[in-house]
Amino acid sequence: MKLAGTTVVIIGGSSGMGLATARAAVAEGAAVLIASRSEEKLGRAADEIDGEVTTRVVDVTREEQLKNFFAEVGDFDHLAVTAATGATGPFFDLDTATVQGVFASKFWGQYFAVKYGAPWVREGGSITLFSGVAAARPVAGMSTYAAINGAVEALCRALAVELAPLRINTVSPGLIDTPAYEGMTPHDRKALFEMVAERVPARRVGRAEDAAQAVMSLMKNGYVTGTVMTVDGGYRIA
Ligand SMILES: NC(=O)c1ccc[n+]([C@@H]2O[C@H](COP(=O)([O-])OP(=O)(O)OC[C@H]3O[C@@H](n4cnc5c(N)ncnc54)[C@H](OP(=O)(O)O)[C@@H]3O)[C@@H](O)[C@H]2O)c1
Repeated sequence: MKLAGTTVVIIGGSSGMGLATARAAVAEGAAVLIASRSEEKLGRAADEIDGEVTTRVVDVTREEQLKNFFAEVGDFDHLAVTAATGATGPFFDLDTATVQGVFASKFWGQYFAVKYGAPWVREGGSITLFSGVAAARPVAGMSTYAAINGAVEALCRALAVELAPLRINTVSPGLIDTPAYEGMTPHDRKALFEMVAERVPARRVGRAEDAAQAVMSLMKNGYVTGTVMTVDGGYRIA
């Protein structure tokens, strides 16, 4: 299956793996729409992409916004959802509102995206969700992500059965160098990246393009559904 001539919607496409997915889909000849909360970030992302993309503002934590978003977009072929905010920290230190905020964007955002996006996906199309390796191999301080990622993967399997023949898959990244780490000090980020690079069999941290290639494969392979594609340099088995 080729992406050329298809329409690809990427929610979270203004940054990181979503932006890399947009770049890859444009390079394959798809018409690409990227969406996220910030018009400014979307504009910058569109300028960075070599080719034409459409941008649209949407907040995935707002159910009504997502419903209207898909109604305005209309029919399309493939959806990827990378939109998420995050919070890490010791279980007893994280206040409930913070944890619920991460669930609102990363779990409920993807849930709403499937609920309101799936009816518009053309025959032969697909949906790709994002979880993360913390579901399979948690470390201390990652309980929120572990819980959300596990829920996203379970939801993906259940919906791949229930919404068939629509294909729904999940990409589970390990540590991927994206703006998601911009909140860390350069010193702490370097230390984390070096520690992970030393530990994983791939001997480097991931690049956004690594995840984008996984999304391309899941969109194009018509015989893959209900699966979790891990893109972690071997972190899970190291
Ligand atoms: N990077 C990693 O190491 C890693 C590891 C495991 C899993 N993951 C998962 O992989 C996915 C992509 O991560 P990334 O590193 O590429 O993230 P990123 O660079 O921080 O990008 C996140 C994107 O989501 C958008 N976004 C955030 N909240 C939103 C909301 N409420 N509504 C709409 N858009 C929203 C952001 O744009 P706006 O600010 O404009 O809204 C941005 O485009 C996430 O699910 C993340 O949890 C990442």
